[in-house]
Amino acid sequence: MEKSFYSEEEVKKTAEKLHEKIKKTGFSLEECMAFAPLILEINRLKKEKNAVILAHSYQTPDIIYGTADFVGDSLELSRKASETKAGIIVFAGVKFMAETAKILSPEKTVLLPSIEAGCSLSESITAKDVQELKKKYPGVPVVCYVNTSAEVKAESDACCTSANALQVVEIFKENEIIFLPDNLMTKNIQNQTKKKIISWNGLCVVHKEFNTQQIEEVKRKYPGVKILVHTECNPTVVELADFSGGTSGMIKYAETHSDENFMMVTECGLSDRMRVELPEKKFVGTCELCPYMKKNTLELILQALKNPSQEQIIEVPEEIRLKAKKAIDRMMETKNFSD
Ligand code: 13P
Ligand code: SF4
Repeated sequence: MEKSFYSEEEVKKTAEKLHEKIKKTGFSLEECMAFAPLILEINRLKKEKNAVILAHSYQTPDIIYGTADFVGDSLELSRKASETKAGIIVFAGVKFMAETAKILSPEKTVLLPSIEAGCSLSESITAKDVQELKKKYPGVPVVCYVNTSAEVKAESDACCTSANALQVVEIFKENEIIFLPDNLMTKNIQNQTKKKIISWNGLCVVHKEFNTQQIEEVKRKYPGVKILVHTECNPTVVELADFSGGTSGMIKYAETHSDENFMMVTECGLSDRMRVELPEKKFVGTCELCPYMKKNTLELILQALKNPSQEQIIEVPEEIRLKAKKAIDRMMETKNFSD
């Protein structure tokens, strides 16, 4: 960054305000002092350029509490993207999320700070793979998880999120459904439906790592702890959960239950968010970092806002966008799609 033109006092005030919020996540005041000039400049540019920053819950606390206008799960953020009057959306998340925002808001400029912010699930399958599956299973509806590319969504009959996967599967009258690309989520859905679910072999590099021993250890150490598990985890882990679902559902559970201890079996960003937002509760146990989500930084957000490269500007060809939007609209028609 160029030399900061903010006064020492402005920098200190911004750093102290941020530190007060995020100290529970382990950040020092010195670290917040280093973030402050970047945060001030990002927030100035946001106003100047009529931009908003949408951040997924897995982003780092400096991004979330220093710069974000909205924080949420992938679908909530895309809906926010279509509602905002801002002309520029900086999507602090991963590529499939920024693409979903572009599909729903084609008239807006959508920027992805890190071009390396992919997703192991999204990258596990191509549109051609879906075409092959459709040939192999003619007439079988295809439900794709939101963690897929626009091209894969365009080949699908409906999209879903971790919050509504089962509901979307159940809207089809057919008894067989192709569900892709998350193999573990498919197994979790299969445990709750009479339909036969045909799977793909995608895995989330974060959630596949959790095991039952970690949960049992936490249960022994904190009797009565509530275990909240993302449904991208193995079914053996989901079986030990007091609640399983997407990130928003996990947050809602922690907010609405008066228990003292919670374990968020998911990416570390979510327990950090909870430590900031529910300081009276304790978030215990282990978590995993998503290497893709963590590619975004304040420096990259600032650079994208100032002068985005071609690769940071998300584009979806109109023909693909219209088909992908149909799959997303189908999901939107189901009840409680954002629960
Ligand atoms: P949510 O939609 O539940 O926030 O999940 C997004 C994701 O990437 C999970 O790993
Ligand atoms: Fe993809 Fe897993 Fe990272 Fe979510 S946590 S973005 S599913 S790799």
